[in-house]
Amino acid sequence: MPQQPWPLPRSGRHRVPAVPTEPLTSSSLPPWRPLLRAAQEKEGRSPMRRWVQLATTGTDGWPRVRTLVFRGWRDADTVELLTDQRSRKVTELNQNPQCELCWLLPKARCQFRFKARRLTLHPDDQERRALQHWVQLSPGARALWGWPSPGEPLASDANFPEAISDGTPPPTSFQLLSLRVQEVELLELIGTPHRRRRWMAQDGWIAANLNP
Ligand SMILES: Cc1cc2nc3c(=O)[nH]c(=O)nc-3n(C[C@H](O)[C@H](O)[C@H](O)COP(=O)(O)O)c2cc1C
Repeated sequence: MPQQPWPLPRSGRHRVPAVPTEPLTSSSLPPWRPLLRAAQEKEGRSPMRRWVQLATTGTDGWPRVRTLVFRGWRDADTVELLTDQRSRKVTELNQNPQCELCWLLPKARCQFRFKARRLTLHPDDQERRALQHWVQLSPGARALWGWPSPGEPLASDANFPEAISDGTPPPTSFQLLSLRVQEVELLELIGTPHRRRRWMAQDGWIAANLNP
């Protein structure tokens, strides 16, 4: 089956998705955003450019971490991800909206860590925004949201559609996660010593230098 796991939007596999964001000038961006952008650009066409690790607290208290595709910025400091509403991570974020994203950009030899909180949007806003993402996905990419509930035992007669066609409304399993970043740490393995910086929203994103 030619289905690729978690394909990128059809607007271009390695380009920023065409989902509109708020108009932002570089002066209205937190100072770590251009650094992240530059590190992403060093990745070139590598998918690592858009793969992030999302850590949540499991309902049993154990940490849980998994890879997701970064889908874009909602605004200056809010990351958008797509997932299945039936997945564990959604239950975990419903219980505890605090999470961490870790973004390794190997070509730039750096790691960004984002302390973030899941936002609860107005239902109309959530629906409008999710639809903007949904229509950008290819039929094959959409199919994943028609698969049986993730993490459940595999049934021998389960139906895994290969495509969900254009014009089909998003199923209830389609979930947009909006994560507002509150703290950022950047570690750069360049030179000696390595360079570690932190920015916190509550401090107006003023940079603090830390021991690596
Ligand atoms: C390269 C890669 C990209 C992935 N992208 C996503 C994604 O964008 N959204 C998503 O929900 N899961 C994605 N997954 C699957 C998750 O890592 C995870 O297995 C799944 O979401 C179930 O996680 P959970 O049971 O902790 O909720 C991706 C996996 C890989 C390997």
